[in-house]
Amino acid sequence: MSHACGIDFGTSNSAVAVSSNGRVRLLPLQDGVTSVPTALFFSFDDDTCTHGRAAMERYLSREPGRLLRSIKSLLGTPLFEEVTQVKYRRYAYGEIIADFLKFLRVSAAREMGGDPRSVVIGRPAYFVDDDQPADDKAQAQLEAAARAAGFETIAFQFEPIAAALHYEQSVTDEEIALVADIGGGTSDFSVLRVSPRLATKIDRRGDILGYNGVHIGGTDFDRLLSMATLMPFLGLGSKLRMKGMDAPSWYFADLATWHRINVLYDGKVLTEVRSVRRDSAEPEKIDRLLGVLELRKGHELLGRIEQAKIDMSSMTAATVSLADVAQDFVLEIKRRRFEQAIGESLGRIEGRVRDVIALAGLKPGTVRTVFLTGGSSGIPAVRNAVTKVVPAAQVVVGDAFGSVAAGLAIDAERRFNRRSARLSA
Ligand SMILES: Nc1ncnc2c1ncn2[C@@H]1O[C@H](COP(=O)(O)OP(=O)(O)OP(=O)(O)O)[C@@H](O)[C@H]1O
Ligand SMILES: [Mg+2]
Repeated sequence: MSHACGIDFGTSNSAVAVSSNGRVRLLPLQDGVTSVPTALFFSFDDDTCTHGRAAMERYLSREPGRLLRSIKSLLGTPLFEEVTQVKYRRYAYGEIIADFLKFLRVSAAREMGGDPRSVVIGRPAYFVDDDQPADDKAQAQLEAAARAAGFETIAFQFEPIAAALHYEQSVTDEEIALVADIGGGTSDFSVLRVSPRLATKIDRRGDILGYNGVHIGGTDFDRLLSMATLMPFLGLGSKLRMKGMDAPSWYFADLATWHRINVLYDGKVLTEVRSVRRDSAEPEKIDRLLGVLELRKGHELLGRIEQAKIDMSSMTAATVSLADVAQDFVLEIKRRRFEQAIGESLGRIEGRVRDVIALAGLKPGTVRTVFLTGGSSGIPAVRNAVTKVVPAAQVVVGDAFGSVAAGLAIDAERRFNRRSARLSA
């Protein structure tokens, strides 16, 4: 039997759904869970590589090794062309992405009782903003990785269109819907005509009124929050004695950026930071930075900032314990401070929503529903940046971590098995 599978390879989390006999199902990938962190951990103890939840657990248990997160953000960038040293071996980033996709394929195969050879993989409206050749390259790199992971027939679908196909499963009348998928790396939007009747059509090109996106997501919010609150404490903006200059800011920017943290663990960088410390007018701050780098705690600290951000979706303030970085220190962050830090990004998200409605040739008043998905749609200020553009629309909140994969499986069934599918309860 042929299985059509949809893979949502996300910046932060990944999910796989399968459509079989007209039913769509999100697959448990690890420990019965359907959405797993897009993460790999290379252990220095036993030289194995683990994935997803297991990778995060091993990293957080402080096992010596190397954690990789946000690998999707490397696609189409110059860093993708570089290799990364893990203990004695050098890995191309394409190899690492292929390894993660293989983990998804093998986990899916176990649940499906058969190996999925055909796949629809989600892609953002833009892997890289305002650079079509780099964007094309990113998709080609992802396709090559999927092939290396053992997939034979590979197609791509835009993530916000996949989310719309999932939303369509629940509509009862024809309507125009705005779909906003605000994830870890990108914010993606689509405007579609949806209905139960249209849902049975194979070719939906005529119902897609517009789509666009922008390279802003939860990992950027983590970076902005870290730069505004944590990094000054580690020496961002601190003075050097010579020439009154500041400590180089790129150490802090990289330490606040999930996919760049490992760059700082290079021996040369550590030597450089030690020499900055000797010249620092505030050496106690650079000592904290050195402590973080020497103990390879970058991901752990950024994880705490991410947790504070998530906490502030339901509370007006959050705390981050830094007791291990400086004795008894606790960072207190107010939601207002977070909203200030991401203010410019909120404006750009709102602008893209206005653009996609104009692109669809519509006035905001004609949009009946706004369907929200993706983890970052949980942030009240982000949600508001989207919904304020269409104040009359009803807001429907989707499965933040499952809608895209479910929609991709619906698309896969149409493309590969030429029939429509409905989501099973
Ligand atoms: N309740 C919450 N409030 C705010 N942010 C959240 C919440 N839950 C998860 N997030 C954030 O959502 C992001 C992950 O969302 P999601 O899994 O939808 O992204 P993704 O699909 O991996 O990324 P992309 O689609 O951009 O490639 C992370 O940045 C995470 O911190
Ligand atoms: Mg996503």
